[in-house]
Amino acid sequence: MRKKVAILAGDGIGPEITAEAVKVLTALQEHWGLDWVMESGLIGGAAYDATGTPLPDDTLALAQDSDAILLGAVGGPKWETLDISIRPEKGLLGIRSALQLFANLRPAILYPQLVGASTLKPEVVSGLDIMIVRELTGGIYFGQPRGVQRLENGEREGFNTLVYKESEIRRIAQVAFTIAMKRGRRVCSVDKANVLESTELWREVVNEVAKEFPEVELSHMYVDNAAMQLVRAPKQFDVLVTTNMFGDILSDCAAMLTGSIGMLPSASLDQSGKGMYEPIHGSAPDIAGQGIANPLATILSVAMMLRYSLNESAPATCLEKAVGTVLDRGLRTPDIYSPGMSQVSTGAMGDAVVEALINTPD
Ligand code: NAD
Ligand code: IPM
Ligand code: MN
Repeated sequence: MRKKVAILAGDGIGPEITAEAVKVLTALQEHWGLDWVMESGLIGGAAYDATGTPLPDDTLALAQDSDAILLGAVGGPKWETLDISIRPEKGLLGIRSALQLFANLRPAILYPQLVGASTLKPEVVSGLDIMIVRELTGGIYFGQPRGVQRLENGEREGFNTLVYKESEIRRIAQVAFTIAMKRGRRVCSVDKANVLESTELWREVVNEVAKEFPEVELSHMYVDNAAMQLVRAPKQFDVLVTTNMFGDILSDCAAMLTGSIGMLPSASLDQSGKGMYEPIHGSAPDIAGQGIANPLATILSVAMMLRYSLNESAPATCLEKAVGTVLDRGLRTPDIYSPGMSQVSTGAMGDAVVEALINTPD
């Protein structure tokens, strides 16, 4: 049966960057003979405006019925005053949860051409290649109870619950160790076990899983130190595994090591390898509609899709090389621009990747 890829563009720069990724997917079909159908759906604020909900039933059905999902970004100031239960972000969280996409892989790789684009010193970041494995369907994002309530004295109280089941910790740890076996064989588990019981259990379970992977060296780090170490000496890390919220924060931090948040792709996988692919950044309302967003994180997410869900690892590698070729040519969107380079638009960057891809021998 033909494979199906769902395209969920979303809000802000979402449609702009997704359009470039679709150009790449189309080029792969036309020039490489790869075969899948693409079908678009509404998500986030765009879906709310059209249907009154950020995750319409037909979008969820499309996601469930697809082999892979490409997502742009959701959210923006227009929807910030809506009740939290119907905000654009709930659309994204709803798909992650409904499809049980618990394993979020966020690779922070510095293309050598962008050493000068990072705000950190070249010697700190050059050669950087870290994999952040973020738990994505549990923790404080989904824990109950949650809400805002009025206390007897009349003041309001907001609350969320950080909760992890042993099985949730075990499965994400197994993903991290399995990935580490194919890389540098080192896992650093990040928690706050000195304060939070839920992450004390996290540490215990990660230690248990480590016994199944005797060739992998495990270390533990508190999240505050991990944030500091990521900017002090990021190359000490191979695979980082952490909770939903810590992973969210640390991956934005790691993105800056690669020159820009516009460079970091992600894969969110279920137990079977089905996945959703998206840049780790958001809808960037401050630059939306200007044609200046960096589409490379989304394009590199397509490479992850090829590798993890479409079983096409050779084209994935070629696509990553094509991004390198474009950077070699000095093409830069404003977020990665440095003097002497050629500043290009979102569309021109996408076109250049397609051109490089077509001309890259497989
Ligand atoms: P953001 O990631 O959208 O933007 C942070 C900064 O990075 C901005 O200055 C933006 O211009 C810049 N930036 C982001 N992506 C870029 C790109 N591709 N090229 C160049 N510059 C880029 O984070 P935010 O401003 O905190 O959030 C804006 C909205 O996006 C919020 O509604 C938030 O909830 C949502 N959000 C969505 C996702 C998602 O859909 N996965 C992720 C994060 C934030
Ligand atoms: C991300 C985003 C999301 C998250 C939001 C938009 C729900 O920040 O994908 O990193 O916090 O997971
Ligand atoms: Mn985030």
